[in-house]
Amino acid sequence: MEVLVVQGDVTDIEADVLVVNLFEGITSPGGATGAVDKALGGVISEIIADGEITGSTSELTLIHTPNSAYPNFKPSRVLVVGLGSSESFDTDGIRRVSASVIRKLRASGAKHAATIVHGAGIGGIDVVTSSQSLVEGALLGAYRFFKYRTTDTKRKPDVAKLTIVEADSAKLEAIESGVTRGVAFSNAEILARDLVNEPANKLSPSDLASTAEKIARENGLDCTILEEANVTKLGMGAYVGVSRGGPRPLKFIHLTYTGDPSNTDNNIWLIGKGITFDSGGISLKPGAGMGKMKGDMGGGASVIAAIQAISQLKPVLNVHAVCAATDNMPGGTAQRPGDVVTAMNGMTIEVDNTDAEGRLTLADAIGYAQSKDAARIVDVATLTGAARVALGDGVSPVFGNDDELVDAVLETSKAVGESMWRLPLDSVTKKQNSSKIADLKNTGGRGGGSTTAAHFIADFAGDTPWVHIDVAATSMLESTRGWTPAGATGVPTRSLIELAMSLGK
Ligand code: BES
Ligand code: MN
Ligand code: ZN
Repeated sequence: MEVLVVQGDVTDIEADVLVVNLFEGITSPGGATGAVDKALGGVISEIIADGEITGSTSELTLIHTPNSAYPNFKPSRVLVVGLGSSESFDTDGIRRVSASVIRKLRASGAKHAATIVHGAGIGGIDVVTSSQSLVEGALLGAYRFFKYRTTDTKRKPDVAKLTIVEADSAKLEAIESGVTRGVAFSNAEILARDLVNEPANKLSPSDLASTAEKIARENGLDCTILEEANVTKLGMGAYVGVSRGGPRPLKFIHLTYTGDPSNTDNNIWLIGKGITFDSGGISLKPGAGMGKMKGDMGGGASVIAAIQAISQLKPVLNVHAVCAATDNMPGGTAQRPGDVVTAMNGMTIEVDNTDAEGRLTLADAIGYAQSKDAARIVDVATLTGAARVALGDGVSPVFGNDDELVDAVLETSKAVGESMWRLPLDSVTKKQNSSKIADLKNTGGRGGGSTTAAHFIADFAGDTPWVHIDVAATSMLESTRGWTPAGATGVPTRSLIELAMSLGK
């Protein structure tokens, strides 16, 4: 979908459908909606008076406005969208409304839609942010992963062009900048969704590495791919242990965006779990639902996608994206439960369960970041089924050892509408990871499964300011929710971008 911004009169715009809006409880519309109402001889006010348009959230009313009936009005249809109560209106509301609008437009066969910006100036939302949210809602809400559906002939084509119309020339620059941000944020989140939705036979560690190399080439990023021999030499025994059960070679991916070249300490390392398929290994998972484990590289996808947008939006900050990619398979050379491996930082780990593989790969990815003087680390991982038990699939649990960095992550997640909640790293749960024969065990028993996993990673983060986001439950959805169609969500890609933007202001 192409997004354009034009200055002009809404009644004079060439489009299949013009989208205007209405807050709940408004009986005589003002602004652009009022102008349209007037040009149509008060038809919107009439429908409001009839009680059909109420302005409630995501209420959609399509009015046909043929040229024969309305010679002074160019758009052939008008879609009035309800914004709900102006008191509780926020940027999530804009994204949600914009997503339902774009799907309605697609279903009605519109090719070229025009819209006004929703909600700028309401509840402290500025023009840049409202425009960004509008674009995000449209691009993310229209998302589909249909590349392997070749016989579906009834599918409606996507809306090709969305034009944002604004009468006030003083606002154009802010709208343009919101659109630029919205496009970069959305394209990144869509990239992450595509990678997660991609089946494991189409996306190996090597495929993920080629994707990273392509992104680097297109956006001027540095890209290093380490092979098994390289990471073995670095001492990444925990990561290599996971990869031993399958034939597809591991790929350690490291992308760098240099936004503050004279100040290398000003850096953040985004580390994403990159298990391209998690069978569980010798601790084999049950068959039902195992196919979902094609998405066990969702964390890796989000950091690779985020750095793409970061390189386009250019914060003053050095950003590293790391993904220790590998399958977790149960082949004859696989590691066994009970094995002891040594991580890059020298710590020994008893592999109590080969299905707790994510934390093993993260341990070495963090070791690598620390060997390169990471100032801050944020790791993202589809780490534990227990995350769903704790918080459901709408909120990602967050852990960390640094209040300032945790708060920064929580704040950005709220701003972009990717809900997160901090859980404690308490000293009682920490003991559950102790091993009788090694420094640590990779499982922590029944209670607090997300917490014991986080404790494990915390031991490798050490004193480095660090945050861990467990997206096991939020990375894929069963059914559509707002701007997130069923399947991969791309979470928390936009949070990571926003975090880098706020740290590098
Ligand atoms: N990739 C899984 C976690 C997961 C579960 C992600 C469901 C998405 C949906 C992870 O590697 C795993 O298997 N974790 C185990 C840990 C356990 C063996 C300590 C789990 O959560 O059961
Ligand atoms: Mn696993
Ligand atoms: Zn896993």
